[in-house]
Amino acid sequence: MDMTRRPRRLRQDGVRGLVSETSLDASDLIAPVFVDATTDERVPIESMPGHERVPVSEAVERVEEVLATGVEAVIVFGIPESKDARGSRAWAEDGVVQEAVRRISAETDAYVITDVCLCEYTEHGHCGVLAENARAGEGLTVKNDETLDLLARTALSHVEAGADMVAPSSMADGQVGAIREALDAAGHDNIPVMAYAVKYESAFYGPFRDAADGAPAFGDRRHYQMDPGNRREAMRMARRDAEEGADVLMVKPALPYLDVVADVRREFDHPVAAYNVSGEYAMLQAAGEKGWLDTTESAYESVLSIKRAGADLILTYFAEDIAASLS
Ligand code: PBG
Repeated sequence: MDMTRRPRRLRQDGVRGLVSETSLDASDLIAPVFVDATTDERVPIESMPGHERVPVSEAVERVEEVLATGVEAVIVFGIPESKDARGSRAWAEDGVVQEAVRRISAETDAYVITDVCLCEYTEHGHCGVLAENARAGEGLTVKNDETLDLLARTALSHVEAGADMVAPSSMADGQVGAIREALDAAGHDNIPVMAYAVKYESAFYGPFRDAADGAPAFGDRRHYQMDPGNRREAMRMARRDAEEGADVLMVKPALPYLDVVADVRREFDHPVAAYNVSGEYAMLQAAGEKGWLDTTESAYESVLSIKRAGADLILTYFAEDIAASLS
């Protein structure tokens, strides 16, 4: 037996760290923050233990909590006071995200990213303008091209409130280009776009839809979000968004799609983001509550794996816990 090679030599204390290939840094992480216009106090999110919806009046405090852990960036989601057919509170100057971002950017040092979508703002819960025959289940539910202008207006209103980066997530074809054009026309050519370029139709968004009240009232998102079995299509999506001017390419969810994260990393020289989504968070919390695994350790391992697969930026509900454990 040839025992010349003993990989265990490099796993010993002292050298293990020197040869480690991947490490997490608080500056890799983006913490999601939920701001809710329907409440005056913090409301725990049942399916995401440890997370809350906060009123606008506490948005700054919430972000200060994030910054105190060492995380430097947040992505803001809004729950509006009212919804309508087109989602008009999404681009309102006094909308929940706009009000929160105005305060956060004025009063904190956080790098502020906003999610640009309509599903939290439309009464039907879809990510855009509904087709006439949608409820009857005939044809496509969301009208693509009519949605683009609304997304562009929403993104612009976020930036005018002080957002540093916008992240379109509606999966409307052309959303990156429409937003890039609107921002540039208004003189915001320095604001980057992080495209939810590769977004799958996933059961792992369940807790988020509870958190942000954005579940579709009927139907599903299959005709605008991607089929989970499609890997080559991810390259077409990423290429299309890159061509439209995306600065950062995101893959979402993260853990069930690490092959796709690795593909995008290999094929593009853009920064790659991955969204460790609500269901990925909830399942580790639930198993931890049962005593079936250690949530802190499994969360760290999950996020480390997302980085190892090739993500530069990681959106995760574990951001604060992980950053706090690093410092
Ligand atoms: C908005 C949006 C969603 C998420 C981020 N932006 C919901 C969805 O597409 O259904 C999900 C995030 C998560 O599950 O953590 N469209």
